[in-house]
Amino acid sequence: MGSWLEGKTLADKIKEKVKEEVAGFQKKMEQVPGLVAILVGENRASKVYLRSKKKNSEKLGMRSEILNFPEDTEASFLKSKIKDLGQREEVDGILVQLPLPSSLNSNEIITSIPPEKDVDGFHPSNLGNLLMNQDGLKPCTPSGILELLKFRNIPIEGKRVVIVGRSLIVGKPLAAMMTNENGTVTICHSKTKDLPLVTSEADILIAAIGRGAFITPEFVKPGAVVVDVGMNYLADKSKMEELFGKDEKREKNIEEKGYTLIGDVHPQVIEKAEYLTPVPRGVGPLTVALLMRNTLEAFKRRRNLFST
Ligand code: GUN
Repeated sequence: MGSWLEGKTLADKIKEKVKEEVAGFQKKMEQVPGLVAILVGENRASKVYLRSKKKNSEKLGMRSEILNFPEDTEASFLKSKIKDLGQREEVDGILVQLPLPSSLNSNEIITSIPPEKDVDGFHPSNLGNLLMNQDGLKPCTPSGILELLKFRNIPIEGKRVVIVGRSLIVGKPLAAMMTNENGTVTICHSKTKDLPLVTSEADILIAAIGRGAFITPEFVKPGAVVVDVGMNYLADKSKMEELFGKDEKREKNIEEKGYTLIGDVHPQVIEKAEYLTPVPRGVGPLTVALLMRNTLEAFKRRRNLFST
């Protein structure tokens, strides 16, 4: 039986440090980092994430704003808004919540964000810095995973790291980070043959596919460290009971909110793995904490304040 690898303790620690630094800048310079998040359309999950990002920024003493544009917003309009934000001195971080509506090309929109304000670390220039293993703003979820492994003294060097999912948000940047840490990295995706054969080689297995409870014990090597990046909405109470047994909290979630949040990893994996990150309270809180830290970092970089 393995242990749960929660992200909340580390997330709180990172946020506390950001809060102290922000208070210091407020006192010294009467300036605090500012974050603007852009949401296009009405994606329910995106709204929940952005509310949390805004609430957290404010708790840490930063300024924060959400701009919500309609589903049929055109690329040219969005790019001109981003250009305006790029020129606003008090805006340090700009993020475009993904996914965008299918009518928009997300690469085109992301590339229009000035790299020094790209707190998601998705701009080609920031991803290039990551590949070159040099300083820059790095994607939040992969950074959070790396920090969590380091925080818990889980070594990466020489380990077999298997990442399931090749997204721009998690899989691809995480592969670069794990390679920079001297892990031996494999990326799997929907076309991978014999997936359980590949994943069961992993000392560190990362699931970022977006399919609820997909990674069952047969995918996992005994004693592996399993990181679950999935955020799936489950509304079906009997499916929930099949996965978790009698779980009052999840039952209440379904009754009150209409869903319970589940990961990509089947809960039975805890019996085979050494560590498994839970969903919720695993990687999620770290993504937000790292976004806060990136916003502070963008603020400092833009003002050449590297000493703290
Ligand atoms: N959608 C899911 N995760 C993320 C993230 O970290 N950043 C952005 N911009 N969109 C997301």
